[in-house]
Amino acid sequence: MNTNPLAALIQAQQLVGSTFKIDYEKVLVLTHDILKAQARGVAQNSFLLAVIPEINHSGQAHEILLLRVAGATSLPAENISLPTLKADLQNQYLTGAKPAESSQIEAGFGGLECRILGTFYQRDGKLRLGSDIESFASATSLKVYRPTGAALETIVNFVSPERLAAASEEARRLGLNGELPRFAIGSVRYSSTDQLHRGDAADRATFHLNAIDFLARRTAIFGMTRTGKSNTVKQLVSVVRRTSTDCGLKIGQIVYDLNGEYANANHQDKGSIAKVFPENTVRYRMLPTAGFELILNNFFIQLAEGHNTLRGLIESGKTARSADLEAFLNMDFEAPQKEECSSENDYQRQLGQYHRKVAAYQALLVRAGYEPPPDFKITFDANAGVRNKVNPSVDPANGLTPTQAYEWFQLARQIQDELVTATGADWIDPDTNVLMNFLLQKNDQGTYIPGFRLLQPYKDYHAPNRCTDVCDEIYAHLAAGKIVILDLSVGDPVQRERLSKRIARHIFNSSMAAFNTGSQPPHTVFYIEEAHNLIGLTESLTEIWPRIAKEGAKARIATVYATQEVSSIHPNILANTENILVSHLNNENEIKELAKYYDFRDFSQSLIRTQDVGFARVKTLSNPFVIPVQIDKFDPEKEKQAAKKKVK
Ligand SMILES: Nc1ncnc2c1ncn2[C@@H]1O[C@H](COP(=O)(O)OP(=O)(O)OP(=O)(O)O)[C@@H](O)[C@H]1O
Ligand SMILES: [Mg+2]
Repeated sequence: MNTNPLAALIQAQQLVGSTFKIDYEKVLVLTHDILKAQARGVAQNSFLLAVIPEINHSGQAHEILLLRVAGATSLPAENISLPTLKADLQNQYLTGAKPAESSQIEAGFGGLECRILGTFYQRDGKLRLGSDIESFASATSLKVYRPTGAALETIVNFVSPERLAAASEEARRLGLNGELPRFAIGSVRYSSTDQLHRGDAADRATFHLNAIDFLARRTAIFGMTRTGKSNTVKQLVSVVRRTSTDCGLKIGQIVYDLNGEYANANHQDKGSIAKVFPENTVRYRMLPTAGFELILNNFFIQLAEGHNTLRGLIESGKTARSADLEAFLNMDFEAPQKEECSSENDYQRQLGQYHRKVAAYQALLVRAGYEPPPDFKITFDANAGVRNKVNPSVDPANGLTPTQAYEWFQLARQIQDELVTATGADWIDPDTNVLMNFLLQKNDQGTYIPGFRLLQPYKDYHAPNRCTDVCDEIYAHLAAGKIVILDLSVGDPVQRERLSKRIARHIFNSSMAAFNTGSQPPHTVFYIEEAHNLIGLTESLTEIWPRIAKEGAKARIATVYATQEVSSIHPNILANTENILVSHLNNENEIKELAKYYDFRDFSQSLIRTQDVGFARVKTLSNPFVIPVQIDKFDPEKEKQAAKKKVK
């Protein structure tokens, strides 16, 4: 049995020629039309393999150079080895041609210029890849092959034995049986015209993204509009989901869905992520919709959050400002801190006031028509003097029904002067006074104000059935390995941004806290579109999105970001992005920016020229060079069938 892993890379029928010139950077290859045709063509940017044989003439490969076709080259008349090489090729591989055709044979010779990407060699029976060449022999001609199918798959999915060992170690730590998974996302494609190398009879090579490259890493998806960025995200979400189920690894995924294209089916895709994985997808929206959870909070429970929402909504409206409204907007619902009070007495006094303020605010919500949670009681302390004057038959310390509570505060406001005279101004703080003004629709001077009516238009932003904070709920879903889709296509833009950030911050902080206390945070993947708005050039690196992109890896957070503009992403983040997928770009500036990274320069021409949807050039962490890949189309039907088969 042949144990040399190099041998499996050489496919005899795929011979395309012999090298006639070599240096550290490039190789010139003598080829022939007949050989190229037999190998199903040689597209620009194709991978080729040049085989360096064993010195002992065993016929085995000693090393294999990995080449990328950069272009055509002429065959220089002065090159002394070319005539012999041509004769060799003719005698060994082109013997089917008749003598009368020999002039045509001569015309069929041509040259290819190839860049050297690296050297495959073997040690201890394991395939290795160096990203350069160690030495070269000018006098030796190397046989050159165009790898396809399994051989090409080995090349494009190559991971060094060291990284594989690290992946196995990580898998063991996660309690998985076997290796860390990898995600199939497409197959190798060299050119827009793909009749030969990807035609019906061609042996395609599947390309995988390794979990070890993807999890807790950054992945960028660049490309002009309609070139398949969202499709790539959908494909990733579904393949990560499917693979993680197969190997029992929980990976939570959260999609910031700006256009509602992941949450809802559109007619092009005939299905959505949510439809394909109904059991494992939770959708959130800002407006009540069947099949969606409300992204919002229960205003009666998440007080500060609810009040913040109201503030944002009122401020973005055209409401005339009054002193009371300003005071309402500026309120906060932070409980007093003992350390900040001068004495225990002072703390108790402030705490009592705070509870009355919360109660008055909850009463105000009820008055404005906000539905309280079932059996909700509003509880606060009022001293006997106040109680007797307002309503001697109830004690708020035992809890009032929502209606009792707002009636209580309305009454209290009506006899406010009396209460102050009898029990001192201390019984409420200025904020509670404003809240009572809102309830009664009168300011301190007794003039009409709209009061609680100002809150009425925003009832839909309150989620009456929620008892936990939406952020905690989302984090729990992610920890359970679910797909969370935040459908941000509806709702107020200001609110949307604030909520998006708040959720992101919560996930980041929770996972960081787990990391800092030595426990393992759950694996999470963030998918963000229009990323230039979130991690753009002008964004401060201390903002939440840049922080997630920069520091998330520690807390096992992976970020996948998509945008049309390479140049608008914060350079610090781009430089730290491990995986980059690029489809068509339409201008030199963007290409120039991209060409600064890895060997994307090789694809400058083809990226501008080819506009094919889903035709991406991919650099991953494991691979030392860029691989041209056609990303699979997200096919909801196929995914559903695959999911069904699994259940059986
Ligand atoms: N790999 C692919 N194979 C076949 N069709 C694809 C592929 N990728 C995307 N498409 C189709 O092309 C269209 C545009 O794709 P998509 O919405 O993913 O582009 P986009 O880059 O996200 O565009 P935008 O910038 O407008 O968000 C869709 O109809 C999609 O179904
Ligand atoms: Mg898109």
